[in-house]
Amino acid sequence: MNSLQDTIKLNNGVDMPRLGLGVFKVEDGQEVINSVKWALEHGYRSIDTAAAYKNEEGVGQALKDSGLNRDEIFVTSKLWNSDQGYEETLQAFEASLEKLGLEYLDLYLIHWPVEGKYKESWKAMEKLYHDGKIRAIGVSNFHPHHLDDLLKDAEVTPVINQVELHPKLAQQEVRDYCEKHDIVVEAWSPLMQGQILEEPVIQELAEKYNKTAAQIVIRWDLQIGIVTIPKSTKQHRIQENADVFDFELTDEEVVKITQLNENHRVGPDPDNFDF
Ligand SMILES: NC(=O)c1ccc[n+]([C@@H]2O[C@H](COP(=O)([O-])OP(=O)(O)OC[C@H]3O[C@@H](n4cnc5c(N)ncnc54)[C@H](OP(=O)(O)O)[C@@H]3O)[C@@H](O)[C@H]2O)c1
Repeated sequence: MNSLQDTIKLNNGVDMPRLGLGVFKVEDGQEVINSVKWALEHGYRSIDTAAAYKNEEGVGQALKDSGLNRDEIFVTSKLWNSDQGYEETLQAFEASLEKLGLEYLDLYLIHWPVEGKYKESWKAMEKLYHDGKIRAIGVSNFHPHHLDDLLKDAEVTPVINQVELHPKLAQQEVRDYCEKHDIVVEAWSPLMQGQILEEPVIQELAEKYNKTAAQIVIRWDLQIGIVTIPKSTKQHRIQENADVFDFELTDEEVVKITQLNENHRVGPDPDNFDF
């Protein structure tokens, strides 16, 4: 891992950048346009949005303004819960694509495992994938039992499972399951929405490497082999979060961070959500 453009190979052969920008809770319009613009200028090549974030138009505008070729950028969006179902998924996908102003998506994820719906949604995702409208399809917030259920009937194995993952929620069980099934794990809220940054173990390492706490956590993500998408709306933090390729944690330090795990979530448990 040498640069922000380093990629990981997904199970269908598509290369995905290991580090990208998340835009959850970033306002559509100037705020998201600036965040994506600064990220792309700094060398980020992966942007993670969702229909539910209601900022796909701004993301699309920034992609267009960047002047980069479409195939230089990896764009992820997600199918929202109320849009699940076969026909609904096909329509929701078209709506996202139109808002983004794109002809295809690099990655489309089922945002949450909505009971009784996600298998139908997956069939539609498979169709879109076979039709060449999405380069790779995956899921988000799937526990191993959801994946077991999905894989029983799936023709296409998800390439990604995007889950809440940070040092207080190391997700070992999900990571082991996904490794066995050749599914890459991607961390959402990798910085625990800012709450991990005061943790003494992380701070000590930050001091040792003359890095910030955020950089230590992002480096840990990369060294445990997952994809990560920290969010910031501040130019200096967008740059800071990407400046993680000039140092390496030792194996012992990686373990020490992993041992901070308390199975503590800042977001909902995928077995118990009401939206
Ligand atoms: N699939 C899902 O269900 C799901 C759920 C949640 C999130 N996500 C995705 O994952 C992405 C990241 O998760 P997240 O946005 O929840 O949280 P996060 O990336 O863990 O943390 C973002 C928070 O940390 C702050 N921050 C960022 N960089 C910092 C730094 N270097 N120093 C200090 N503070 C810093 C940000 O503030 P500023 O913006 O003020 O810098 C923001 O408040 C999302 O944007 C979204 O794309 C997916």
